[in-house]
Amino acid sequence: MAEKRRLAVFASGYGSNFEAIQKACEEGTIPNAEVVLVVSDHRDARVCSLAKDAGIPLLDFCPKEYPNKAHYESIIAERCEEEKVELICLAGYMRIVGPTLLEAFRGRIINIHPSLLPSFKGAHAIEQALSAGVKVFGVTIHYVDETLDGGKIIAQRAFPYEGNDIEEVTSLTHEVEHILYPETIAKLLQTNK
Ligand code: GAR
Repeated sequence: MAEKRRLAVFASGYGSNFEAIQKACEEGTIPNAEVVLVVSDHRDARVCSLAKDAGIPLLDFCPKEYPNKAHYESIIAERCEEEKVELICLAGYMRIVGPTLLEAFRGRIINIHPSLLPSFKGAHAIEQALSAGVKVFGVTIHYVDETLDGGKIIAQRAFPYEGNDIEEVTSLTHEVEHILYPETIAKLLQTNK
């Protein structure tokens, strides 16, 4: 059996996408892969408890405890290198990735965003889409570069929604995310053998 492909998941909050990725690795929907590191910028985030419960190494940190982003990102990059991480999956990591991490993992960081990019970039995509009155919502997976939610698009999935209920559309978005993210990771690993 070939060595397992090594993923890191970065998340700031609830961690439902982490759960979906982790489950997909366990069940083989993402074949021959494992989450070897969870990184979180919120020590009390639910995702941290999930990682601990699953016995996955966790790097949790408080950005304010460091003089600057370059400082904590060099610690993250070093840890990812130590863990031989092949692909970093941002999953609700609500922080802009800076040059230190980008240079260390260029072309190996992907993100999930709850809109059909390039529409509705930033931290409140679903709210923005609802305010704009769109009738087709969606999810984008893209490479991370220096731009805000602007890196090359890898995959997108749309769904119709005509209502005006933020909770409902958020839950529909999550349903799509939990399928599309594992599917896309599996394809990327398959392509980059
Ligand atoms: C997800 O919907 C993800 O698309 C979004 O945060 C949520 C995290 O949920 N990311 C962004 O808005 C990035 N700009 P989760 O913690 O349950 O996975």
